Amino acid sequence: MIGIGLLGLGTVGQGVVEILEERRDALKSLLKEDVSIKKILVRDIHKKRNIKVSEGILTDDFQDILDEEVDIVIEVTSDLEQSYRYIVEAMNKGKHIVTANKAIVSKYFEELNELSIKNGVGFLYEASVGGGIPVLKPLKEQIVLNDIDEVQGILNGTCNYILTNMFERDLDYDEVLRTAQELGYAEADPSADVQGHDTLRKLRILATLGLQGKITEEDILLEGIDNINAFDIAQIKRLDSTIKLIGEAKRRGDGFTAVVQPMIIKNDSYFASVNGAFNSVAFKGNNVGELKFYGSGAGKLPTANAILSDVIDIIMDSHRENSLGDDVLSNENHMIHGQYYLRISPVAGEGVPNILSEISEEILAQGEYISIKTKATGLYKIYDVLRELGLSKDEYFLARFFD
Ligand SMILES: NC(=O)c1ccc[n+]([C@@H]2O[C@H](COP(=O)([O-])OP(=O)(O)OC[C@H]3O[C@@H](n4cnc5c(N)ncnc54)[C@H](OP(=O)(O)O)[C@@H]3O)[C@@H](O)[C@H]2O)c1
Repeated sequence: MIGIGLLGLGTVGQGVVEILEERRDALKSLLKEDVSIKKILVRDIHKKRNIKVSEGILTDDFQDILDEEVDIVIEVTSDLEQSYRYIVEAMNKGKHIVTANKAIVSKYFEELNELSIKNGVGFLYEASVGGGIPVLKPLKEQIVLNDIDEVQGILNGTCNYILTNMFERDLDYDEVLRTAQELGYAEADPSADVQGHDTLRKLRILATLGLQGKITEEDILLEGIDNINAFDIAQIKRLDSTIKLIGEAKRRGDGFTAVVQPMIIKNDSYFASVNGAFNSVAFKGNNVGELKFYGSGAGKLPTANAILSDVIDIIMDSHRENSLGDDVLSNENHMIHGQYYLRISPVAGEGVPNILSEISEEILAQGEYISIKTKATGLYKIYDVLRELGLSKDEYFLARFFD
């Protein structure tokens, strides 16, 4: 009998309970033993829930999770610091850990990885990047045989849903965000998604694994999608293109560049076909070439499915340990370079056209807003121009032409 301790019984936790129940026989036939949930930790044991669990299984006391019957702890809470401490304590008690919590993995990646090795326990987090898409396991396999030079992805379903709907239905940002919230595609407080922090955390995990060196949250440049408007979408459509929020990390000599930003993508290129709440991750290895992964980036069952794949790998002892590299990589973000779409809100001052002319290749529109396509320019140079114009983040929208 394999005992599971579940931390959290929200969307994903319920999915874990449901799939474990539905696939009980298939799991037993593969693993030759039962997999059974022993305890479930929640904040409020009296809360009304949409799922029935056996009597006495819910607890609000973490010590119950450390029971000797529990072999694997599945962490699917929405909490950061307290759940991080739970993971540490569980690892120190010899429990294997599976988590979907990208905030924890991103913030404490190296530390938790080392602790798992020290304690001889598994630490898997497939669901933390790309939800239901199995991408970290193939990435870990390929780093053995390849130098990974690039990882890229559409990593946030909320942003992709908003951008797809603005694009297809010619709606403005606020209207689509409201609908996304009503349909459950966006949280009541959507800032972590639309400002790009969620994508940044996933890129931090992907980039550290892929490039085999520590790339922290602070190493990644960040632009979100919360300033985009219907005017931008109309301009982008005229260029036979669409727009996606992309996280991208690239090897540059002994260093890396890493950025999360909206990118303008030709309608006939691959990422343009990733729509709605779907996610996609691509990486390039020197031997395998480019690999692309596509699927549901979130949701109860896809995410729970990824978690239970990790659980199977732990039980079958087929997971990889210590796959974080220890290369010291320099941050070369000053090398980020390309052609950009820049729209600025009307700004007073006669100097504006002059300042913009330093970077502009083509004026796309001039009227209510000024929008330009820049020459091939360093991103830092564009930030200099924005500073010179005295623009705050909510007074411009910037997107790179994807190459
Ligand atoms: N939802 C997705 O599609 C998805 C996809 C990929 C990854 N994830 C990640 O998976 C995790 C869970 O997401 P979710 O959507 O299932 O969240 P959720 O629906 O908000 O559920 C969170 C659960 O965690 C419990 N909880 C929160 N803080 C706790 C604490 N300090 N101690 C004990 N229990 C605590 C809550 O207890 P109560 O029920 O008592 O309030 C609740 O059951 C998050 O880290 C998220 O980033 C989610």
